[in-house]
Amino acid sequence: MKRVLVTGGAGYIGSHVCKALYQNGYEPLTLDNLSLGHESSVKWGPFFHGNCGDQKLLDTLLSSTPVLGVIHLAARSNVRESHQVPLEYFQNNVVETLHLLEVLQKHRVPHFVFSSTCSIYGLPQKIPLEETHPKSPINTYGTSKWMVEQILQSASQSFSLKVATLRYFNAAGADPDGEIGESHDPETHLIPLLIQTALGKQLTFTLYGEDHNTPDGTPIRDFIHVTDLAQAHVKALEQLMETGDNLTLNLGTGKGYSVKEVIETLQQGWGVNIPLIKGERFPGDPPILVADPSKAQDALGWTPEYSDLQTILETAWNWHHRTVS
Ligand SMILES: NC(=O)c1ccc[n+]([C@@H]2O[C@H](COP(=O)([O-])OP(=O)(O)OC[C@H]3O[C@@H](n4cnc5c(N)ncnc54)[C@H](O)[C@@H]3O)[C@@H](O)[C@H]2O)c1
Repeated sequence: MKRVLVTGGAGYIGSHVCKALYQNGYEPLTLDNLSLGHESSVKWGPFFHGNCGDQKLLDTLLSSTPVLGVIHLAARSNVRESHQVPLEYFQNNVVETLHLLEVLQKHRVPHFVFSSTCSIYGLPQKIPLEETHPKSPINTYGTSKWMVEQILQSASQSFSLKVATLRYFNAAGADPDGEIGESHDPETHLIPLLIQTALGKQLTFTLYGEDHNTPDGTPIRDFIHVTDLAQAHVKALEQLMETGDNLTLNLGTGKGYSVKEVIETLQQGWGVNIPLIKGERFPGDPPILVADPSKAQDALGWTPEYSDLQTILETAWNWHHRTVS
């Protein structure tokens, strides 16, 4: 059996990664502390409840069940919250990862796929963002991910761990079969919040700043469908196994939409009204984040299939509509 350990596999992206692994002939073993995820999203392999840095648990697990590799998604990823409790972010995202890596070294686990983020780039000097863009995160969350990237570079040199670092832009949408979707409590991501407001689950949507340096004043983001992201993880793992060469790749589409454009597309396409209120711009939010995805497309032979805005909104809408009603 081709087993892969997936930390954070009960979360939004992790559960879609588990489904993609299963569909490609792997058995995903989910390790999640359920601080943010849901056991009900673990459908494609066994579940282990615990911290991704719990060395006793990992040691027992890997002694009885060797794995081909680890896909490490477990993290806290709320940019604003990361400013309020920075030490908790470094503890969870960096220290827990160090503990995990120590056990992987002991068990000689050869392959590691890491969930990084476009937040490591900070304020873009040039759009689209290439992987070589200077790294200068402007929020604690991004700093924690950049620290792990650097740790992985050293680990890879010293104990021959093969590493694929995947820098996601904005994950969005839901499983096209409707089996899993995005569900956070509290929700902080744009599209679920908009849909929840349209469905009356929230009264208003807060627009954080209309004075960004963009054509309509609202931030521009590159939305990548979660199923496309999940597929890229399988391809990255297989590429590592095949070539043994480390990879660092942006996962985005290369096309950006402003928050107002997303709101308008949803209102027009679904005939809904989303009541807006004004909020303060957050200094840790760059005005524009759009990927140059060409390196990932070349290296993995990967092309996003579901990442047009219409399909993203449609799959997300279907998921939320089903979970609300
Ligand atoms: N959602 C995005 O747009 C986006 C963008 C860039 C990067 N990422 C990264 O992708 C990964 C997954 O993000 P997501 O949106 O699915 O978030 P999520 O909160 O839905 O999933 C994270 C999962 O990790 C678990 N977890 C957190 N800390 C843990 C720990 N110490 N031990 C075990 N489990 C732990 C949570 O319970 C949750 O199930 C994260 O690493 C995040 O930083 C997400």
